[in-house]
This record gives sequence, C-alpha cells and structure tokens, in this order.
Amino acid sequence: MLQIIVTTRQGDQRKIAVGLGQTVMQAIRDDGIDLMALCGGGCSCATCHVYVDAAFSAAAAPITADEDGLLEGSDHRKPNSRLSCQIPMTSQLDGLRVIVAPED
Ligand code: FES
Repeated sequence: MLQIIVTTRQGDQRKIAVGLGQTVMQAIRDDGIDLMALCGGGCSCATCHVYVDAAFSAAAAPITADEDGLLEGSDHRKPNSRLSCQIPMTSQLDGLRVIVAPED
C-alpha cells in the first residue's frame, strides 16, 4: 500500500493508504474527507480540485487540455492546482501531499 497525506478544508492532516492505480480522488473520498467529486472521476466537474506539493508535481500524471480548461474556471486556481481524479497513484507518488482546495 502507498500513502498520501491530505490536508482537509478544515485544516486537519490525514494519512491515507492508497492502492496502486487508485486515483487520489478515490482515496480522499474513501476516507470520508469532504470532497464533492460530482462527476465521479470523469474530468468534467472540477469539484475534486486539490493543490499538489511541488516536490511531487513532476511525478504526477501530466495535466491534459481538458483538465487545464476545467481548472481555468476555478476562482481558486494556483500554479500547483490539479484535479485529483486525474492523478492515478504510482510508486513515485508514495508520500504525496495534497491540500483540498476551497469550494468554488
Ligand atoms: S471528480 Fe469530476 S473532475 Fe474530478
């Protein structure tokens, strides 16, 4: 099992076990953390927005044009913004730190 460290919107830090290939969004939701993920991972809602620790940005799957377009519509976009449903876990991402973005 891999592990990610998630900072919730309430500011709590949670360590979560994640399976290889599971997306960061699935792991966050399975843990019961507040994250809407309305479209269920279809890259069409942008409610799974997180900020990825800079140390891991190169290891995460590259951002697609669709993801970039959705993030563009967010008032809370930062340079390290990603849609967590578009980041499948790999061993390089073990220990990944993400912060759940505020709701738009
Ligand atoms: S869950 Fe909808 S875009 Fe990620």
